[in-house]
Amino acid sequence: MSKKNTETSKKFKRYTVTSALPYANGPIHIGHLAGVYVPADIYSRYLRLKGEDVVSICGSDEHGVPITIKARNEGVTPKEIVDKYHSMIEKSFREFGISFDIYSRTSLDLHHQTASNIFRTLYDKGKLLEKETDQYYDEENKQFLADRYIVGVCPVCSYEKAYGDQCESCGSSLSPNELKNPRSMLSGNKPVMKKTRHWYLPLDEYEPMLRQWILEENKNTWKSNVYGQCKSWIDTGLKPRAVTRDLNWGVKVPIENTEGKVLYVWFDAPIGYISATRQWAEQKNVDWEPYWKDKDTKLVHFIGKDNIVFHCIIFPVILYAEGTYILPDNVPANEFLNLEGDKISTSRNWAVWLHEYLEEFPGKQDVLRYVLCASAPEAKDNDFTWRDFQSRNNNELLAIFGNFVNRTLVLTHKYYNGVVPPLANPAEEELNIKEEITAFADRIGNSIDNYKFREALSQMMGLARLGNKYMTDSEPWKIKKTEPERVKNILNCCLQICAVLSIISEPFLPFTAKKLKQMLNLPDLNWESAKDNNLLPEGHNINEPQLLFDKIEDRQVEEQVKKLHNARRENEEKEKSDLESIKPHIKFDDFAKLDLRAATILKAEKVSKTKKLLKLLVDTGVDKRTIVAGIAEQYDPEEITGQRVVVLVNLEPRNIKGIPSEGMLMMAQDTNGKLTFVSVDKDCENGATIA
Ligand code: 2FM
Ligand code: ZN
Repeated sequence: MSKKNTETSKKFKRYTVTSALPYANGPIHIGHLAGVYVPADIYSRYLRLKGEDVVSICGSDEHGVPITIKARNEGVTPKEIVDKYHSMIEKSFREFGISFDIYSRTSLDLHHQTASNIFRTLYDKGKLLEKETDQYYDEENKQFLADRYIVGVCPVCSYEKAYGDQCESCGSSLSPNELKNPRSMLSGNKPVMKKTRHWYLPLDEYEPMLRQWILEENKNTWKSNVYGQCKSWIDTGLKPRAVTRDLNWGVKVPIENTEGKVLYVWFDAPIGYISATRQWAEQKNVDWEPYWKDKDTKLVHFIGKDNIVFHCIIFPVILYAEGTYILPDNVPANEFLNLEGDKISTSRNWAVWLHEYLEEFPGKQDVLRYVLCASAPEAKDNDFTWRDFQSRNNNELLAIFGNFVNRTLVLTHKYYNGVVPPLANPAEEELNIKEEITAFADRIGNSIDNYKFREALSQMMGLARLGNKYMTDSEPWKIKKTEPERVKNILNCCLQICAVLSIISEPFLPFTAKKLKQMLNLPDLNWESAKDNNLLPEGHNINEPQLLFDKIEDRQVEEQVKKLHNARRENEEKEKSDLESIKPHIKFDDFAKLDLRAATILKAEKVSKTKKLLKLLVDTGVDKRTIVAGIAEQYDPEEITGQRVVVLVNLEPRNIKGIPSEGMLMMAQDTNGKLTFVSVDKDCENGATIA
């Protein structure tokens, strides 16, 4: 047994199980399901089957800058965006049997109140620091720029579209003033620094508590990926973290004179778990508080690895500082799921969307749940491939589970008209089987208690495998005439295995378990019943069998792979065509008319009363001349003195804002309007011709 297997030692009165609130700015894909929602659902279903008092919480995370940006890009309101995706996501979860007790949303008044109250309590208790800092501001839009509203060049990898809080290319966590050449996402302009006031959670003050709680008390119970990330955060040194933002979309800061300020989305979102619990409790007419405040409650957060710091450090500090809440008992975060060898990416359209899967594989929710659990990224990133999907369906679900159940039920109908035969004078083999059956529930339960869902699934399949092998080896169809009593015993044992399977498969394969129970004519039974090896007594009538799984053909998975590649290609092509479409052909003579020269900027100054123009003195090698260029929003005059450039020297002179401009500076412009110099090497002398 590994050192991290001590979960079962304490008995809890109730369980609060939370699943990361997905952002309501897009549909959900298999990565979400594998990382968070399938494990959380297995865990909650198992606890319910054990008869525990459990509430499984989720909802849409409807605040945050990505939502406002998406709304802006689509020319609609943030509310329209979240309404659309909230219902779409909720539907996907429902269709995949993700059995939340409540699927709420953070735009509800109840949530705004809950988050405001907690913030206000911290404020009143003096737990927040108020600081005035300089922050980027877009003068054209008269707005402070939240991190995601600033793009620029990553200081680590030079990626040109890094965000103010993170570079999506190299993964570095950034702060806006680290970006080179920052630009506002709103206007494309270079932002200016302006003073603003915010409230901070002094994480550093909680370091001793976090060290004790995480690094000491939870050393052996938290997963090593989670523990490792927390340790590194704590060891690197925690800093106060701003919990408010200058933005109009979110929970208003509940302090006087804070117009235009909202709570940071990562302050309000986890509180969404509490609001959702309150909403559920109101509907059920029960008290919500024990689920968050009673020490006998086990609070478990299911999340992906990018959410670890928020759930293990920031949210617990909020709860601790508030003073009346419990802290999570465990935060079983998963790593990431890749797809066909590449990172899942919404923007590159490299994903399998749940709503599309269901259109193409109707009724096959359990197959996807199975595959995603079997290859879940529990300890390291893992890969989903359509070939693996096919093979797990055909060689495991169909060939083992489905085949075993089907043979058992078909033979029971054929030999005994669907009536369970007796077990009489069982041989050693049957006695062993009956003995073995009883051990599965505890074995699987122990793995689930320790968040080892892959292991639990494989143990569940172990019972189907055991049954399938037993039937194959004992070949009842061959001895039906010669050993009729033995065949009754065999089928009786196989039926008992099917009955246990109908219970222990439920957390993993809820649709299949339901069908199986119906075919076996069994009511809903609890987890404890799965230790009974005589659930189907002699004489019990079973119903007609139907197939639980069917074959997935090569053609079907080939289509899926093709679809993925096509979607990515279309996306790339769209991006390419967004980059300037190519202009019609010209004659060589037309091109030869252009006189392009290597040059150097000697001097640059702003053209007064304009935002975009710089007046440049340029050494073209032939002469020194003035050129007016529209680059002031991206370049400061001082930073470009000495810059090597290419100049079109024979463009007809023009008067720009009263200044005669003799030529044109060659600049490259990308789809975002970002400009860069077309330059020459330093050893290329001024005046060199370019052709
Ligand atoms: O990463 C995300 O998708 C976030 N919306 C998760 C929030 S979890 C919780 F804090 F609400
Ligand atoms: Zn980078």
